[in-house]
Amino acid sequence: MAGRIPSAWMDELYARTDIVSVVSSYLTLKKDGRRYWGLCPFHNEKTPSFSVNPELNLYYCFGCKAGGNVVQFVMEMERVSYLEAVKLLADRIHMTLPEMREDPDYERRRSQRERLLNANREAARFYHDRLWQPEGKPVLDYLHSRGLDDGIIRRFGLGASTDRWDDLTSYLREKGFTLDELGLAGLSVIKGDHAYDMFRSRAMFPIIDQYNNVLGFGGRAMKDVKPKYLNTSDTPVFNKRKGVYAINLIRKMRDLKRIILVEGYMDVVALSQSGVQGAVATLGTALTNEQARLLKRYAPEVHLAYDGDEAGQHAIERGLDIFEAEDVPSKVLYFPDGLDPDEFIRQRGLEAFQAIRPMSPVAYRMQRLRLKYDLESQDGRTEYAKGCAELLKNVRDPVDLENYLELLSVQTGFSREVLVAQIGISPQKPEPMNNSLPDRERISAKRSHVPEGYRTEQTLIALMGTGKLPEGMVKETDFASPAHRQIVHLLIEGNVPADIISDDDLGDEVRHAAGEAFSLQSELDLDNAAAIAGDCLRKLQIQRIEQEIQSMTDLMRSADSPQKRADALKEVAELSKELARLKQQGR
Ligand code: UTP
Ligand code: MN
Repeated sequence: MAGRIPSAWMDELYARTDIVSVVSSYLTLKKDGRRYWGLCPFHNEKTPSFSVNPELNLYYCFGCKAGGNVVQFVMEMERVSYLEAVKLLADRIHMTLPEMREDPDYERRRSQRERLLNANREAARFYHDRLWQPEGKPVLDYLHSRGLDDGIIRRFGLGASTDRWDDLTSYLREKGFTLDELGLAGLSVIKGDHAYDMFRSRAMFPIIDQYNNVLGFGGRAMKDVKPKYLNTSDTPVFNKRKGVYAINLIRKMRDLKRIILVEGYMDVVALSQSGVQGAVATLGTALTNEQARLLKRYAPEVHLAYDGDEAGQHAIERGLDIFEAEDVPSKVLYFPDGLDPDEFIRQRGLEAFQAIRPMSPVAYRMQRLRLKYDLESQDGRTEYAKGCAELLKNVRDPVDLENYLELLSVQTGFSREVLVAQIGISPQKPEPMNNSLPDRERISAKRSHVPEGYRTEQTLIALMGTGKLPEGMVKETDFASPAHRQIVHLLIEGNVPADIISDDDLGDEVRHAAGEAFSLQSELDLDNAAAIAGDCLRKLQIQRIEQEIQSMTDLMRSADSPQKRADALKEVAELSKELARLKQQGR
């Protein structure tokens, strides 16, 4: 997108634009140290966690993790496109927009994207209007029969596709859209020079993104027609692995405590109708990492509320894996009797729904393991205990750990001491030589075969390689891996990724490490590069402090004089305070 405006011109805009005064026109900022602080405009809060760094020309909210440069700030505040934000900023300081660099292909794609989005928006309006007309009555009756009232139907912009072959197609053709465009948008099926509607006789759920673009649709069949739900296939504007249903509504909720992730569109709408806010669904596929990262931006926690059947429960385990990999705090809402959230809330009501206690991932995984083994037999109890011991290695909170140990002891008959020993030394995985690694790091090292810190370093390097990080943000000394330090050194010196990967002088190990790190670039959300890098840096710092605490604790245990013990204790207390502060920032 940015490629369109000459970068020299953008540099001048950045140089002449004072991010503090731009942000100050929306909220009150107070200077503290090198940063300015204020109440975050993107989430509801009482103590300021929104910071502006004029040196780096960046803003970042430690609460909701919104972050970016001044252009992104205006985009978010005004809900406008990149180009519109640039225009607004240029107007402020009376800079005139430059002659746009010719990029016919960019222009073509951009205008195509806008045309397709327009077609989708028109389609959503059309389907919605049809609901209130005689042709749409069967669908309206169907939605009513599923317990939805007109208010909720409007809130979600639900609609009706009729049984006519070209109802929508002919309407949009009259509005000036070409058959090509309708085909590309996935609204019409083109056969030679004939075209008919993709969706017929279905209840229509428009899929709307956080910027209020209609990206596509899910269509629920009225009767026993296959497929039950027909979804827009991937188009130039719709990617089912990236989008999330109802994110447009979540976006407007300030101070949302948790997002509830369900399987189906209908579950989202039914929960909302019953008074449960903050539900979203994936788009007919399993949760992806991209979706997990998107959700992370809007609430501090996600509750997985999949169907109570076996498929749903299995999907929960994979969902938890993804949330863990993306560092999204998650819990599980379990529905009995194979019910889905829609059925549960309609049959048992809001209070019963609210009474469901969210389970921690560990508790949930223990419950799932329990189903695998016969606890009546000694073998079953043994295997179950071993499996749970693996899970409990993840638990850092001593009180939680104690509770799980107690439960496990009751269930299996093994004493607490035996279970603790099992957690300490697992037969498949001998204790690593370096005992000072924090537990969490050991666990994730096992899960992904590389230490967690190493992954974080790779992400940082990938981000640096994009050139999108402010100069000076990342230093060599932030890295533990010698290979990574060398790569970072080269990047800081001004080398680009391609130089590094192809530099024969570097030796295989470093080049290999570079290739691996830079290949992560494609998975990253580059619009938020600086914010992500900030998270990574904090994570690495947390790990360093945790390691220090661990070695201090060891020292304390082995200390031979009370004075040494007291000193170490004091040190641990200081480090713990620093740790708590860093973790607080990460919230
Ligand atoms: P479910 O089959 O669990 O549907 O599919 P549901 O939400 O309970 O729907 P109702 O209550 O019968 O109307 C969950 C989700 O899986 C996707 C859709 O996204 C749906 O919301 N799905 C399901 C499809 O994409 N195609 C299908 O044929 C079925
Ligand atoms: Mn259902």
